[in-house]
Amino acid sequence: MLKKGAIFAVFVALFAYKFHFRPVDHAPDYLRRAVAHNIWNSIFFLTEKVRSATSSRAAIGFMQKAMMPTPTNEDAIEEIVDNGEYKIHFWRRKDLVEEENQPVAIFFHGGGFIVGDVPSVSSFYSSIAVQKGITVASVEYRLAPKHPFPAPSDDCIAATEYIINNSESLKINKDKIVLAGDSAGGELAIVTAIEVKFKMPDFNFAGLVPVYPCTQFLTHRMKAFDENESTGVLTQDFWRMAGANHAFGISAKTDEFIEEMKNKSVFKRIAQVYPNIEERFLGSEDEGDLEPAEMTDEEVELFVDPRFSPLLYSDEALWHLPETHLFTSEIDILYDDQRLFYEAASEAGANIKWTVWKGAAHCEQSFSTIAIGKTIAPSVDRNVEEMINVIADLLE
Ligand SMILES: *[C@@H]1O[C@H](CO)[C@@H](O)[C@H](O)[C@H]1NC(C)=O
Ligand SMILES: *[C@@H]1O[C@H](CO)[C@@H](O)[C@H](O)[C@H]1NC(C)=O
Ligand SMILES: *[C@@H]1O[C@H](CO)[C@@H](O)[C@H](O)[C@H]1NC(C)=O
Repeated sequence: MLKKGAIFAVFVALFAYKFHFRPVDHAPDYLRRAVAHNIWNSIFFLTEKVRSATSSRAAIGFMQKAMMPTPTNEDAIEEIVDNGEYKIHFWRRKDLVEEENQPVAIFFHGGGFIVGDVPSVSSFYSSIAVQKGITVASVEYRLAPKHPFPAPSDDCIAATEYIINNSESLKINKDKIVLAGDSAGGELAIVTAIEVKFKMPDFNFAGLVPVYPCTQFLTHRMKAFDENESTGVLTQDFWRMAGANHAFGISAKTDEFIEEMKNKSVFKRIAQVYPNIEERFLGSEDEGDLEPAEMTDEEVELFVDPRFSPLLYSDEALWHLPETHLFTSEIDILYDDQRLFYEAASEAGANIKWTVWKGAAHCEQSFSTIAIGKTIAPSVDRNVEEMINVIADLLE
């Protein structure tokens, strides 16, 4: 959702500068998608202009300004639990407010760990609660750069444990909890599923539904980053800005590291210490003759922490995934992040399914009728409905 000024700026940029953008030829609802993808791609593009002219902090502030609260579905009641560092929003359909033992979908919002909030997606989440007659919860977790790694994942893990521990007073059936999220929120859902299982070995989630998640920040030199950028929505510039800010927060290092990621190889530096990370990437990365990035040993440890790069979870950890359904947009720079995660989890024996939405881009969920109150394209709504039905089925 956009404020008027931002919309104006986006359209000026669009028409004056870069109306070269188009989705892949076989995308369903081609023209409608061309407009929607173009507007979103332009927001990423303008954000990068702000960053290169000023700093990543200013760019993040600019992007956050483009986020606006969306209305709660009028048939839903919202309740907010404030636990200090994080808040949890709950939505229930009006007629189910008093019902005990409800199934719950816990969603983590996207935004690269640096932007986004629950109010900007409350139309989406509250409508799912209404449509499916389930409780929907969403965590307002802390964001980088003010609160870098591991603050966002710490909050999501703590909030999920809180819901499990207090299920009775929250009127929740703890045998029916599904974790879900888009983009960075998909990553947080994966991390939360595994970390909570480590901490509470007797507890089982009913399911996990990550939607176009990032799964690593070691390389952006895989095919999908090149092949899918010019026709997709998400940009490599945003990916680097998110990774550096999530890793280093508010420090002089952050903006320098964005250049370091661009011009040198983080992957090579890490492979010097952990040669076997190659196995998880299945040789998909091509670092050419780049120099290894300058990183301290501590920084290397941060990047290989599976809570930062869940693709690097051990086979044993991946085996502990609950029943998982991963969704991918076909034209996403993160396509290979998700393909590799799927391969690693399948190889480790996890119960995981993978669906690729043809011709769709990153942010698909944000183009849906229930997210923005307007229909952009029937194919978008079909994809998003498919995802919501998977969540509802896991909660049956
Ligand atoms: C939930 O309960 C577990 C085990 O009783 C405890 O270790 C954990 O700290 C609790 N977490 C929260 C967030 O209440
Ligand atoms: C996105 O990238 C992946 C990996 O290269 C590729 O398999 C997929 O077909 C790409 N999508 C499109 C629409 O080109
Ligand atoms: C990184 O490379 C770009 C060109 O590819 C160059 O303009 C920039 O100065 C380089 N940055 C650093 C820190 O070397």
